[in-house]
Amino acid sequence: MNDRILHPGLRNLLMSADQAASLIKPGMTVAMSGFTGAGYPKAVPQALAAQMEAAHTRGEEFRIKVLTGASTAPELDGVLAKAGGMELRLPYQSDPEMRRRINDGELEYLDIHLGHVAQHTWFGFYGHIDLAVVEVVGINEDGSLIPSSSVGNNKTWLEQADKVILEVNLQQSEAMDGMHDVYYGTALPPHRKPIMLTEPDDRIGEPYLRLDPEKVAAVVITDAPDRLTPFADPDEASKQIAANLVDFFGHEIKAGRLGESLLPLQSGVGNIANAVLAGLADSGYRGLTAFTEVIQDGMLYLIRDGVLDKASATALSLSPAGIEEFNRNIAFYRERIILRPQEISNHPELIRRLGCIAMNGMIEADLYGNVNSTHVAGTAMMNGIGGSGDFARNGFLSTFMSPSTAKGGKISAIVPMVSHVDHTEHDTMVVITERGLADLRGLSPKQRARTVIDKCAHPDFQPLLQDYFDRACRESFGKHTPHLLNEALSFHQRFVETGDSRPQAAAL
Ligand code: COA
Repeated sequence: MNDRILHPGLRNLLMSADQAASLIKPGMTVAMSGFTGAGYPKAVPQALAAQMEAAHTRGEEFRIKVLTGASTAPELDGVLAKAGGMELRLPYQSDPEMRRRINDGELEYLDIHLGHVAQHTWFGFYGHIDLAVVEVVGINEDGSLIPSSSVGNNKTWLEQADKVILEVNLQQSEAMDGMHDVYYGTALPPHRKPIMLTEPDDRIGEPYLRLDPEKVAAVVITDAPDRLTPFADPDEASKQIAANLVDFFGHEIKAGRLGESLLPLQSGVGNIANAVLAGLADSGYRGLTAFTEVIQDGMLYLIRDGVLDKASATALSLSPAGIEEFNRNIAFYRERIILRPQEISNHPELIRRLGCIAMNGMIEADLYGNVNSTHVAGTAMMNGIGGSGDFARNGFLSTFMSPSTAKGGKISAIVPMVSHVDHTEHDTMVVITERGLADLRGLSPKQRARTVIDKCAHPDFQPLLQDYFDRACRESFGKHTPHLLNEALSFHQRFVETGDSRPQAAAL
């Protein structure tokens, strides 16, 4: 343990999670590490939740505002939500307990483009940050920090917080030292300069997080693994979605719009995104690259199998099996993976320059290509927009994918008008279901609608959608983007009427 904390002054600040958690007071804004179940603090939030519950039993109010990189895990989001200890949460979550409470209206949730969080914090939109709680692999002699399995917003949290609690997690491999690239050149406008990254594996920063040791209030030792739910095995629909995408890539290569090694891939969260990567594994590609925010198991296996040469991300979002594979062959992976702050992994300038291929899941798409990634029946939060908007708005190609139906075939993922808009028709280039692929580039709204119904909708819903569109073309107020407004939204009432109530999906 001593060789994980080389700064003598910080070694003197070692204390229990309970003691460290007692530094967090009601009403504070606390910024924590963590990005999709990776690199989040594991002991302090649990101790804090226990202290909150004790306060609530005494009849005292104890709630805080929590900022992170993205989603975390039951040991952070789950316990604090269960303790009724959050008054505000941002920018992304996927915890079932948290989701339930957000949808019950118990706390405020700000769903923010992940690439925006750091700069919005500098702009002061989220107020003052009282304390940061950050998991690290180790502390160097000069007080700089070896980042953990995610970098997320940690650079910003360490800069902006008054005080810092560090969790040194002995389970995170020391061999990760050197994998990270923390860029310190960002500035506020009008002082911004170009970010000189032109290849996904360019190193433009430093391997360590800078930290003023004077800020540190506590150091806690933990010994617990990252926790991510295992991914579902790809089902037939996911495999077909992957096949449709691979087929499309072949078509784009023939058309001369993509080269044999494609362009840097971005792959979203969830089972479908993971399954699509598995599909790429069998498609004969070599020399691929990724400039993305999360490396899920599917991407790790592409690296293992020599399909993907190098990957830049902000987090290793691996299942227990993926973590085992990573740790077993860490020397191999650290040569091929770079972890960066999310303000860089999701930076519009870089995504546009590199020409990323964005591949994200969706809840539903409408006839015109507007996409809802977040809200079931327009009102109930699933997870959040995550980085899908950062990549969809700026990528060379933006694709959205989903099975054509949800909930055992009762709900169509293709709808007349989305019940909530995350990505507009102007950003969506390709919609993919297991039925087929709608390439919307260069099409007018009515051409898009015909293509989406024809290629993507499930046969059970095709006649309904076609009938809607035909009547909208005849009766709509304007004939440019035909709609029957009352009817369009009542389509979503079907979800509520299936009795499936609100989303229960497992954590992503
Ligand atoms: N209506 C109701 N529920 C729907 C639905 C719809 N149209 N489409 C999906 N769902 C539900 C599924 O039923 C499932 O819930 P269940 O497990 O309770 O049945 C859940 O959403 C997940 O769907 P699944 O088909 O397994 O896909 P996924 O795991 O790939 O997740 C998203 C899909 C949209 C939830 C996920 O991609 C997401 O959160 N995206 C937004 C964030 C993002 O894109 N980030 C990318 C950069 S990190």
